[in-house]
Amino acid sequence: MRFPKDFLFGAASAAYQVEGAFDEDGKGLSNWDVFSKIEGKTLNGTTGDVAVDHYHRFKEDIKLMAEMGLESYRFSVSWTRIFPHNDGKVNQKGLDFYNQLIDECLSYGIVPFVTLYHWDLPQYLEEQGGWCHKGTIDAFLRYAEVCFQAFGDRVKHWITFNETIVFTRLGYMTGAHPPGIRQCQEKFFQAIHNVMVSHAKTVLLYKALKQYGEIGITHVLAPAFPADERESSKKAAAHANYFETAFFYDPVLKGEYPQYCLDILKERKVMFEITEEEQELLRKAVPFNDFMGLNYYQPKRVILIEGESDTDLSRAASTGGVGQVSFDGVYQTVKLDDRRYTKWGWEVSPEGFLSGLQQLKENYGDIKLYITENGLGDVDPVIEGEIMDIPRIKYIEEHLAVVKKAIAGGIHLKGYFAWSAIDLLSWLNGYEKQYGFIYVDHENNLERKKKASFYWYQQVIASRGEAL
Ligand code: BG6
Repeated sequence: MRFPKDFLFGAASAAYQVEGAFDEDGKGLSNWDVFSKIEGKTLNGTTGDVAVDHYHRFKEDIKLMAEMGLESYRFSVSWTRIFPHNDGKVNQKGLDFYNQLIDECLSYGIVPFVTLYHWDLPQYLEEQGGWCHKGTIDAFLRYAEVCFQAFGDRVKHWITFNETIVFTRLGYMTGAHPPGIRQCQEKFFQAIHNVMVSHAKTVLLYKALKQYGEIGITHVLAPAFPADERESSKKAAAHANYFETAFFYDPVLKGEYPQYCLDILKERKVMFEITEEEQELLRKAVPFNDFMGLNYYQPKRVILIEGESDTDLSRAASTGGVGQVSFDGVYQTVKLDDRRYTKWGWEVSPEGFLSGLQQLKENYGDIKLYITENGLGDVDPVIEGEIMDIPRIKYIEEHLAVVKKAIAGGIHLKGYFAWSAIDLLSWLNGYEKQYGFIYVDHENNLERKKKASFYWYQQVIASRGEAL
């Protein structure tokens, strides 16, 4: 079987991780511009000030993507290029940059898939309370509207938010991301809810503008499975699936939070504020969500924690490897002897991917899906000057085979975006953890080089995945 004609083969990036030019052409400071400069926050103090200089080299990068045969490029807009300061004024140069980037993609027939929020919040909003502050919802809406008006004639695929669970949990529970707050369940849940309201309002706004494109949100897909046969582990997995999946998917696809979670939050006295009007809004937006974006890297193998738990996670434990304790100290992830793991302790599990997709279909019906991220973070071997990222080829091959199987099994999957198009900054792992098809030589003026996976993906796209 070949992938259907309208299936998009893509690759992704995010503004802070690739652009650099952090203070150029009128750009204001984001929370990440500030946070990454606080000692001890990122690996060896790495910042995105220059990143891989995509801001200046996007033409070269898009040309390479076109050569690879990429059909769609998912990138994010940096909010502080558009609204640099807290004065409501739009920075024309910020719009110009994205207009050029979009036009460059289109000149090669590459479909731009645009994320509005991939974690870089304006610092002035962070200082006012960030995602816990209702004012951020209005600011986001205004920003989204400006983007729709400026780019919507050419951009027909929009993602509002990337991985709400990650930036809120790391921002308010582990403190590994800005605003660096630890162990604050009240703020964690309030922030999630405010993001969900922002998403619903943005979807309704987009539809009211009648631009006739599609809009959705990207969530993490990390299905939890009991690590062993114990009843307690099954309970842990059910609890994890409620709080890490249903709590994020339900408000978007059902218009309400799971009652199981609400009851627990009320009992623990960490219930967030939700008005009647907001509740109504969530419900109203449900039918207007055109798709769900899914970022899949690994499943979770969980056990229940008996007795005292250590929820005070270190930065290392919060970067996604096994050994994570849940936000409420009820369960934790464990490493299993018979599984494969990456150098960063992330499980490689194409089977978990398929089960996750099947569970989504069971719980939410026949929704349109895009895999908006999937890939292998690795230290790529360089052999005689060639980047032989064979493990990445194997990883993507196995996961694309799952996508094919899922489509054949009736799952409505319309595209796959590998993470990432080009090597980029990993938020907490600096430049050491590579994901790209295109290598960036940090020792040599950020020179670009095609990896083995580049030629492999080119082949996959050209043959529409026939050999997979
Ligand atoms: C996702 C993010 O969580 O995972 C990306 O959307 C991120 O921005 C990717 O880079 C991989 O994470 P990491 O920690 O390996 O860079």
